[in-house]
Parts: sequence; structure tokens; C-alpha cells
Amino acid sequence: MRRRGLIVVLAVALCGGACSGTGNVLVAEPTVTTTTTGATATTTATTGATTSTSTTSTTSTTSTTTTTVVPREVTAVNGLGDSFYPYLGNGGYDVAHYEIDLNIDPGANTIQALTTITAQATKELSEFNLDLSGLTIGGVTVDGSKAEHSRYDTELVVVPADPLAAGAEFVAEVSYSGSPEPISDPGVPFFKLGWHNNDGVIFTASEPSGSMSWFPSNNHPTDKATFEIRLTVPEPLTAASNGILVEETSVDGYTTTTWRMDDLMATYLAAVYVGDFERIETDQPDGPLIRDYVPRADSDEIVEALRITPQVIRYYEDLLGPYPYEVYGSIVMPFGLGFALENQTLSVHGRDTINPLTVAHEIVHQWIGNSSTLQDWRETWLHEGFATYLSAMYMAEHHGWNLDQRAAEWHRQLADAVPPLEIEITEMFGASVYFIGAVALHELRRSVGDSVFAEILRTHYQRSANANTTTAAFLGVVTELAGREAAGLVESWLHEVPSLA
Ligand code: TRP
Ligand code: ZN
Repeated sequence: MRRRGLIVVLAVALCGGACSGTGNVLVAEPTVTTTTTGATATTTATTGATTSTSTTSTTSTTSTTTTTVVPREVTAVNGLGDSFYPYLGNGGYDVAHYEIDLNIDPGANTIQALTTITAQATKELSEFNLDLSGLTIGGVTVDGSKAEHSRYDTELVVVPADPLAAGAEFVAEVSYSGSPEPISDPGVPFFKLGWHNNDGVIFTASEPSGSMSWFPSNNHPTDKATFEIRLTVPEPLTAASNGILVEETSVDGYTTTTWRMDDLMATYLAAVYVGDFERIETDQPDGPLIRDYVPRADSDEIVEALRITPQVIRYYEDLLGPYPYEVYGSIVMPFGLGFALENQTLSVHGRDTINPLTVAHEIVHQWIGNSSTLQDWRETWLHEGFATYLSAMYMAEHHGWNLDQRAAEWHRQLADAVPPLEIEITEMFGASVYFIGAVALHELRRSVGDSVFAEILRTHYQRSANANTTTAAFLGVVTELAGREAAGLVESWLHEVPSLA
């Protein structure tokens, strides 16, 4: 029998008090109901320990529109047909840039927000969709003219005053406000996704669907874009987001910081933090700027543990190629989270995950996951199996790990697991994806040797850097550099983990 539901080390459900929240949006299940509030679906968490009943999102917080009830059917407009998340993302346009302006009241946990989306229509559009969960729309404009809008589930339907011509560039502005609620996502049964407020500390953790809890977007990694995020918070709080801090102003007791992410980024990697953090900068002569955010109190151990960051970056530069962004750092919460997440240029950690393995895991994701990004959420092994194995390689180099032993142990523990490409949505971040994915890479390395293996990794990364990739593309690289048999070996671990006799 296959064992389902082993939760991984990096993602234990120790929420440190941060697991509360009431937003319930089951993003993956089709709703075939005729009311907006009555639809329920049951999700069994991978731990088997909790069964939660989720009510699909309602539009009851929308004050300016009447509720449109549409039977849910994936169409070219309301989804991109991802095999796990058919409704995430939207067809008909391509986003180039997001400008997200948030005025945040951490005490009340509310935002006043304006998101400006610059995009190009890929066909003639009389309407288009964005993904947004909860919150109240103040108004929508397209190219400066008022646009009609309506909402159902997590779809925000925008009808411009005049249809957009195929190929036209357009600017859509959405003003909205309210209290962002984290989202129940069947792919991450151990944590609610998106916006959290834990005792006045605001943090986001969004992979895969949670960004739509705080800004409207084309919420699928195949539509990457550049970002500018502007955060206004009361003094003396510190705010942080992705990329370079380009401006900081202070007016009437409020601080506004502007963050620019000039390299392409998937929506799930966008992030916002507000709290009492200290910024620590380390300038490197040859390498990205390092800037970490640590809790202002009691952080000596954390600061010490983060000192390995430049060395870890150099290790992966040697393995894969130059670090893809201008800046890197970690933001460490003043509480435990039981997990870490690789937000682009700004990984988030709970104070319980600052160890060399996890720090290296989130750093390698900057290349594998953030720059070279999966095309379909079924293939999370392309991120997690790689990050598990490449962080273990760092541990072998710097902390004496024996990878033959590790791989044998992972296989022994997971010999009956569902293989990484046979999983259900609830297992996207389960142990098999991480550890059997890593065993697949270790077996490949043993069969082709260290130098061909390194060439495969580098070629795979460089061909998909700043873009999207698939298992098929990776196997193509393996075939090219090591032959069909080597590719067959990897495939066998992805589809049929051999049981131990
Ligand atoms: N990608 C994370 C890792 O590095 C795991 C993860 C996925 C996660 N979704 C999450 C963590 C949501 C926190 C919240 O392994
Ligand atoms: Zn990971």
C-alpha cells in the first residue's frame, strides 16, 4: 500500500500561533452551485489529522456590484487550465508590470489599496478576468475610463468601456480595501496562504495561490512580470518587500517605502512584511547586496546563523551560474512558523528554521523555482526535489553529509510513497516530492558521474532561467547530455518508486 501524507521537515505544521484566520477559498474545486455562499467542499489534509470543511468564497464583501452567479466551468477567460489549479490565472492577456500600493493599518489589519496592472491583450477582449479573494472593490478603470466589474468566487471580471484590440497595451487600475483573509488551499493543507496578521506582525506566505488575498493579478507562474510595491505603515514599524528599496519617505507619522523588482517574478513570490524588524546590510564586492530583516529583540543567534548566506550564494553560483537578482536576504519572524518560503530576493523564515540546510534550501530556490519556474503546479518536484538535493550537496560540501547514506535513508522511509509525478493536489508539498525527487537526482548523478551531472543541472537552469520549465524539458536535457537510459532512470523514480524487498 502506498503511504500518503508524510509532511516534510521544511513544512511541519507548527504555526506558532499564526495558523488562525477565517478566509476559506477552495481554489481548486469547481463550484457547480447556484448560490455564492452555500457551496461547501471537504478537504482532507495530508496529515490525516485534520479534516476541514471549506466554504467557497463569497462576494458578500463587494459593495459596488451585485453578485453574479455563474456555474463554474474552466474557460479560456477564467483560468489557464493548470492541471491542479484550472482556475488560477486568466487567458487573453499578458501582464508586464504590477504596481501595488498598500496603505496598511496593522492594528486593525486593514488595507487601502490600489493595484495598477500594465498588460497586453493577446486577442480582442470585450472583458477579462483577474484573480482576487475577498476585499471590497472601490472601482476599476481601464486606460483611465471607468470599467464595469463583477465577481464570482475568486474571479474579478472587468468589462472595459471599449473592447481592447488584439495586441493593445492597456492599464487596468483596481482600487480596493478591507481586511485581507488568508486562503485555504488544498495544495498546502498545513497552512493558510497569503496575508497573515500575527499579533500585529503582518506577513505573507503565498505559494501557490495566496497572493490573491492581497492583490488582483493573473495568478499563475506562467505570467511573470516586474513589480513595484509601495507600503505605507505607521512609524516606527519596519516594512519589507521584494527587490531593491528605492525610496523611503516619512510624513505625519507614516513611513512609505517603495520596492522595485525589475526582474520577472511570479505572483506567488510577491511578499509583504510589517513589524518591528531590524535591517542588516552586508555589502559584497562581487555578488548581490545582502540585506536581512531580523526581530529587533533577541536576534544574536539568528544574525550569527545567517552569516553563511554569501558563502551559500557563491556555492550555487559555481554550480549553476550567476545569482539571478540584485539583492538577497532572509526575513525572520519573531515566532516559529515550522516552514520557510523562497519569496523572490526575500525568503521568509520562522525563527525555528534558521539552520544551514533550510537557509541553503531557500537560497537555491532563487535559481530553481524563482528564475527557472514550473509551468504546471503538478510538477512541484522540479522546485522541491531540486532544492532538497542541491541543499544536501551544500551540506555534503560544508557539513560532512554523506549523500549515499542520505539517499538510502530517504528511499527507505519513502519506499511505499506515491511517486512525485503520481501525486494528488494535497501532496504537492509532501515528503515524496522533496525526498524521492532528490533521490531521483542522486541516482542520476551516480549513473552519469559528477561532471556530467553538474553540466545537466547548469544546462537545465540556464535554458529556463527567467522563464518556465517542465519535467519533459529537463528529461530532454538529460537525454541530450547523458542518453535515453539516464532519462529513463529519472523517469522511473518520478512514476514508480521501487519498493524495498
Ligand atoms: N516552497 C516552500 C519550501 O521551500 C514550501 C511551501 C510551499 C510553503 N507553500 C508554502 C511554505 C506556503 C509556507 C507556506 O519548501
Ligand atoms: Zn522548497
